[in-house]
Amino acid sequence: MSHGQFYKADELVELIHHNFGGFHPGARAVHANGRIHAGTFTATVEAKSVSRAAHFQGTPIPVTSRFSGGSGDPGASAGGTIAMASRFYLPDGTVTDLIAINLPAFPARIPDDIIGLLSVAQPDPTTGKPDLAKVQAFLADHPAAGRVVQLLQVRPAPVSFAQVSYRPLHAFRFVNAAGEGCWALSLGAGGWQCRSVGRGNVATTARFPIHRARESFAAGSGGIQARPPTRAGGRSGGRPFGVLA
Ligand code: HEM
Repeated sequence: MSHGQFYKADELVELIHHNFGGFHPGARAVHANGRIHAGTFTATVEAKSVSRAAHFQGTPIPVTSRFSGGSGDPGASAGGTIAMASRFYLPDGTVTDLIAINLPAFPARIPDDIIGLLSVAQPDPTTGKPDLAKVQAFLADHPAAGRVVQLLQVRPAPVSFAQVSYRPLHAFRFVNAAGEGCWALSLGAGGWQCRSVGRGNVATTARFPIHRARESFAAGSGGIQARPPTRAGGRSGGRPFGVLA
């Protein structure tokens, strides 16, 4: 959202509240039900060749990750859309955050698109459900959003927070110690490739944090070593860092 579009934020959050049964005091407007786990992130050896970021140098970095469902209702269980918000505690005492979601793409390109989609998805006061004809008309008008929604409908629901790929859905540029930059290109299950624009492709294929985190989370070793969740939705046992509603 650009500076000129900040005024839309209130409208947007208001619509979100309407979609999730109103305002829930003390809860986030979306991703209201989540829990935090503590762990350690250790970057792969390739990471520092493409990035000079402190947490990519291979030193184990303490991390907290909040896993959440997409709903704004704190009482709702996690459904098909789930998220991972991580905070890395860097050696110099500062922190850096990374948010990611399990969607392969986002259904809105500009703020007006998400405002439009949320508006047509408002529950009808008589039925308590969105008017499907309105939603379909909007998606027909916005084919990119339509494709994402279609994809979400045929996708199986995740079995656990540990068994999905979390994607930041953003263009990331890595710069290494020599000042060489490249754009991170997601290869899905194949990890990340560093692609240099204008100077040909860099031959580096590195497995970066998010992907590694998912793998090691499931395997229980390496990457982000999160303690197993103790509440529903994951493996049992262990002690979570905290629980947030
Ligand atoms: C139109 C686009 C979006 C809107 C309007 C939106 C809105 C929001 C809002 C209102 C919150 C709650 C913030 C709070 O109360 O602290 C939130 C949380 C969050 N969003 Fe988004 N979001 C959008 C896109 C995205 C995308 C593309 C991602 C990831 C790729 C993402 C990941 C997250 C995560 C992980 C959280 C939870 C953070 C936490 O656990 O503390 N969001 N979002």
